[in-house]
Amino acid sequence: MRKVKLYIAISLDGYIADENGQIEWLTGFPNPEKTDYGFADFIATTDTTLLGYKTYEHILQLAETYPHPEHTNYVFTRSERPAAPHVTFVQGADIPGFVQQLKSQSGKDIWLVGGGELNAVMLEHDLIDEITLHIMPVALGKGRPLFSGKAFEKRFKVVQTKVYASGAIESVMLPDRH
Ligand SMILES: NC(=O)c1ccc[n+]([C@@H]2O[C@H](COP(=O)([O-])OP(=O)(O)OC[C@H]3O[C@@H](n4cnc5c(N)ncnc54)[C@H](OP(=O)(O)O)[C@@H]3O)[C@@H](O)[C@H]2O)c1
Repeated sequence: MRKVKLYIAISLDGYIADENGQIEWLTGFPNPEKTDYGFADFIATTDTTLLGYKTYEHILQLAETYPHPEHTNYVFTRSERPAAPHVTFVQGADIPGFVQQLKSQSGKDIWLVGGGELNAVMLEHDLIDEITLHIMPVALGKGRPLFSGKAFEKRFKVVQTKVYASGAIESVMLPDRH
Protein backbone atom coordinates (compact mmCIF):
# COMPACT_ATOMS: atom_id res chain seq x y z
CA MET A 1 0.00 0.00 0.00
CA ARG A 2 1.32 3.48 -0.81
CA LYS A 3 2.40 5.58 2.15
CA VAL A 4 1.24 8.99 3.33
CA LYS A 5 4.34 11.01 4.20
CA LEU A 6 4.35 14.31 6.02
CA TYR A 7 7.40 16.39 4.97
CA ILE A 8 7.41 19.67 6.82
CA ALA A 9 9.49 22.25 8.73
CA ILE A 10 8.75 23.56 12.21
CA SER A 11 10.12 26.23 14.51
CA LEU A 12 11.78 25.01 17.68
CA ASP A 13 8.54 25.74 19.52
CA GLY A 14 6.51 23.56 17.16
CA TYR A 15 4.96 26.02 14.72
CA ILE A 16 4.69 25.63 10.94
CA ALA A 17 3.82 29.28 10.31
CA ASP A 18 3.63 32.48 12.31
CA GLU A 19 0.28 33.63 13.67
CA ASN A 20 -0.51 35.34 10.34
CA GLY A 21 0.24 32.17 8.43
CA GLN A 22 3.54 33.52 7.06
CA ILE A 23 6.81 31.58 6.75
CA GLU A 24 9.57 34.18 6.19
CA TRP A 25 11.26 32.84 9.33
CA LEU A 26 11.67 29.60 7.32
CA THR A 27 12.27 30.70 3.73
CA GLY A 28 14.70 33.42 4.90
CA PHE A 29 16.64 31.19 7.29
CA PRO A 30 20.40 31.17 6.43
CA ASN A 31 21.27 28.11 4.35
CA PRO A 32 25.08 28.09 4.03
CA GLU A 33 25.13 24.68 2.29
CA LYS A 34 22.49 25.79 -0.19
CA THR A 35 20.78 22.48 0.49
CA ASP A 36 17.24 21.61 -0.54
CA TYR A 37 16.91 19.57 2.68
CA GLY A 38 16.34 16.40 0.64
CA PHE A 39 13.22 17.81 -0.97
CA ALA A 40 13.98 16.82 -4.60
CA ASP A 41 14.66 13.21 -3.58
CA PHE A 42 11.58 13.20 -1.37
CA ILE A 43 9.14 14.58 -3.91
CA ALA A 44 10.38 12.09 -6.52
CA THR A 45 8.92 9.31 -4.33
CA THR A 46 5.43 10.86 -4.52
CA ASP A 47 2.80 11.52 -7.18
CA THR A 48 -0.02 12.95 -5.05
CA THR A 49 -0.31 15.83 -2.56
CA LEU A 50 -2.84 16.53 0.20
CA LEU A 51 -3.43 20.06 1.52
CA GLY A 52 -5.72 21.96 3.80
CA TYR A 53 -7.34 24.97 2.15
CA LYS A 54 -5.34 27.52 4.19
CA THR A 55 -2.06 26.00 3.05
CA TYR A 56 -3.26 26.01 -0.55
CA GLU A 57 -4.31 29.65 -0.20
CA HIS A 58 -0.89 30.56 1.19
CA ILE A 59 0.96 28.72 -1.59
CA LEU A 60 -1.03 30.73 -4.12
CA GLN A 61 0.16 33.94 -2.44
CA LEU A 62 3.72 32.78 -3.16
CA ALA A 63 3.23 31.21 -6.62
CA GLU A 64 0.84 32.04 -9.46
CA THR A 65 -0.52 28.51 -9.75
CA TYR A 66 -0.11 25.41 -7.67
CA PRO A 67 3.55 24.45 -8.17
CA HIS A 68 3.24 20.67 -8.60
CA PRO A 69 1.13 20.30 -11.75
CA GLU A 70 2.61 16.87 -12.49
CA HIS A 71 1.12 15.54 -9.22
CA THR A 72 -2.50 14.73 -8.43
CA ASN A 73 -3.38 17.37 -5.84
CA TYR A 74 -6.29 17.31 -3.38
CA VAL A 75 -7.27 20.35 -1.32
CA PHE A 76 -9.64 19.76 1.61
CA THR A 77 -12.23 22.40 2.35
CA ARG A 78 -15.67 22.61 3.95
CA SER A 79 -16.79 25.25 1.44
CA GLU A 80 -17.81 25.36 -2.19
CA ARG A 81 -14.74 26.51 -4.19
CA PRO A 82 -14.51 27.49 -7.87
CA ALA A 83 -12.40 25.13 -10.00
CA ALA A 84 -8.68 26.01 -10.09
CA PRO A 85 -5.71 24.77 -12.12
CA HIS A 86 -3.87 21.60 -11.05
CA VAL A 87 -5.96 20.86 -7.93
CA THR A 88 -9.16 19.05 -7.01
CA PHE A 89 -11.17 20.45 -4.11
CA VAL A 90 -12.59 17.80 -1.81
CA GLN A 91 -15.59 19.27 -0.04
CA GLY A 92 -16.98 18.21 3.30
CA ALA A 93 -15.57 14.78 2.70
CA ASP A 94 -14.97 12.02 5.14
CA ILE A 95 -11.20 12.70 5.05
CA PRO A 96 -10.16 9.35 6.61
CA GLY A 97 -12.33 7.36 4.16
CA PHE A 98 -11.08 9.40 1.21
CA VAL A 99 -7.42 8.95 2.17
CA GLN A 100 -7.79 5.21 2.92
CA GLN A 101 -9.22 4.75 -0.53
CA LEU A 102 -6.35 6.76 -2.09
CA LYS A 103 -3.81 4.64 -0.20
CA SER A 104 -5.31 1.45 -1.58
CA GLN A 105 -4.90 2.65 -5.17
CA SER A 106 -1.69 1.94 -7.06
CA GLY A 107 0.85 4.71 -7.44
CA LYS A 108 3.75 6.40 -5.75
CA ASP A 109 3.57 7.68 -2.19
CA ILE A 110 1.40 10.59 -1.06
CA TRP A 111 2.86 13.84 0.28
CA LEU A 112 0.86 15.32 3.13
CA VAL A 113 1.84 18.98 2.67
CA GLY A 114 -0.13 20.27 5.68
CA GLY A 115 -1.09 22.46 7.36
CA GLY A 116 -1.75 21.89 11.00
CA GLU A 117 -5.52 21.37 10.84
CA LEU A 118 -5.29 18.72 8.15
CA ASN A 119 -2.24 17.13 9.84
CA ALA A 120 -4.25 16.74 13.05
CA VAL A 121 -7.12 14.93 11.28
CA MET A 122 -4.62 12.64 9.58
CA LEU A 123 -2.74 11.92 12.81
CA GLU A 124 -5.89 11.32 14.83
CA HIS A 125 -6.94 8.63 12.33
CA ASP A 126 -3.47 7.00 12.15
CA LEU A 127 -3.13 7.86 8.47
CA ILE A 128 0.43 9.22 8.60
CA ASP A 129 2.96 6.51 7.71
CA GLU A 130 6.15 8.59 7.84
CA ILE A 131 7.19 12.04 9.01
CA THR A 132 10.25 13.97 7.82
CA LEU A 133 10.54 16.91 10.14
CA HIS A 134 13.00 19.76 9.82
CA ILE A 135 13.31 21.52 13.16
CA MET A 136 14.62 25.04 12.58
CA PRO A 137 16.53 26.73 15.43
CA VAL A 138 14.18 29.67 15.70
CA ALA A 139 11.40 30.31 18.22
CA LEU A 140 8.26 32.20 17.21
CA GLY A 141 6.37 32.44 20.48
CA LYS A 142 3.03 32.15 18.70
CA GLY A 143 1.87 30.61 15.47
CA ARG A 144 0.08 27.77 13.65
CA PRO A 145 0.90 24.46 15.35
CA LEU A 146 2.13 21.36 13.51
CA PHE A 147 -1.01 19.57 14.72
CA SER A 148 -3.89 21.85 15.45
CA GLY A 149 -7.23 20.94 16.97
CA LYS A 150 -7.98 18.02 19.26
CA ALA A 151 -5.73 16.68 22.00
CA PHE A 152 -4.37 13.15 21.60
CA GLU A 153 -1.19 11.18 22.19
CA LYS A 154 0.51 9.35 19.31
CA ARG A 155 3.99 7.89 19.47
CA PHE A 156 6.65 7.70 16.78
CA LYS A 157 10.08 6.09 16.57
CA VAL A 158 12.92 8.06 15.05
CA VAL A 159 14.70 6.04 12.34
CA GLN A 160 17.09 8.66 10.95
CA THR A 161 18.50 12.03 11.96
CA LYS A 162 20.76 14.54 10.27
CA VAL A 163 22.06 17.97 11.23
CA TYR A 164 22.52 20.63 8.54
CA ALA A 165 25.01 23.52 8.60
CA SER A 166 22.05 25.86 9.18
CA GLY A 167 21.44 24.06 12.48
CA ALA A 168 18.25 22.46 11.15
CA ILE A 169 17.70 18.98 12.54
CA GLU A 170 16.12 16.49 10.16
CA SER A 171 14.27 13.70 11.87
CA VAL A 172 12.58 10.85 10.01
CA MET A 173 9.95 9.05 12.08
CA LEU A 174 7.63 6.09 11.72
CA PRO A 175 4.48 5.53 13.78
CA ASP A 176 4.88 3.36 16.87
CA ARG A 177 1.36 1.95 17.15
CA HIS A 178 1.75 -0.49 20.07
N1 LIG B 1 6.37 25.02 7.67
C1 LIG B 1 5.94 24.30 6.67
O1 LIG B 1 6.71 23.49 6.11
C2 LIG B 1 4.49 24.43 6.25
C3 LIG B 1 3.91 23.39 5.51
C4 LIG B 1 2.57 23.48 5.19
C5 LIG B 1 1.82 24.58 5.59
N2 LIG B 1 2.42 25.57 6.28
C6 LIG B 1 1.63 26.74 6.73
O2 LIG B 1 0.51 26.32 7.48
C7 LIG B 1 -0.49 27.33 7.42
C8 LIG B 1 -1.87 26.73 7.31
O3 LIG B 1 -2.07 25.75 8.32
P1 LIG B 1 -3.44 25.72 9.12
O4 LIG B 1 -3.32 24.71 10.19
O5 LIG B 1 -3.78 27.10 9.49
O6 LIG B 1 -4.51 25.27 8.02
P2 LIG B 1 -4.63 24.05 6.97
O7 LIG B 1 -4.62 22.73 7.68
O8 LIG B 1 -3.67 24.24 5.85
O9 LIG B 1 -6.08 24.34 6.35
C9 LIG B 1 -7.21 24.43 7.18
C10 LIG B 1 -8.43 24.37 6.30
O10 LIG B 1 -8.58 23.05 5.76
C11 LIG B 1 -9.96 22.72 5.68
N3 LIG B 1 -10.24 21.62 6.60
C12 LIG B 1 -9.68 21.37 7.82
N4 LIG B 1 -10.26 20.29 8.38
C13 LIG B 1 -11.19 19.85 7.50
C14 LIG B 1 -12.10 18.76 7.50
N5 LIG B 1 -12.17 17.90 8.55
N6 LIG B 1 -12.89 18.58 6.42
C15 LIG B 1 -12.81 19.42 5.36
N7 LIG B 1 -11.97 20.48 5.31
C16 LIG B 1 -11.18 20.68 6.36
C17 LIG B 1 -10.72 23.98 6.08
O11 LIG B 1 -10.86 24.74 4.87
P3 LIG B 1 -12.06 25.79 4.62
O12 LIG B 1 -11.79 26.93 5.56
O13 LIG B 1 -11.92 26.13 3.18
O14 LIG B 1 -13.32 25.05 4.93
C18 LIG B 1 -9.74 24.66 7.03
O15 LIG B 1 -9.97 26.04 7.17
C19 LIG B 1 -0.16 28.19 6.20
O16 LIG B 1 0.14 29.48 6.63
C20 LIG B 1 1.07 27.52 5.58
O17 LIG B 1 2.01 28.45 5.12
C21 LIG B 1 3.73 25.51 6.64
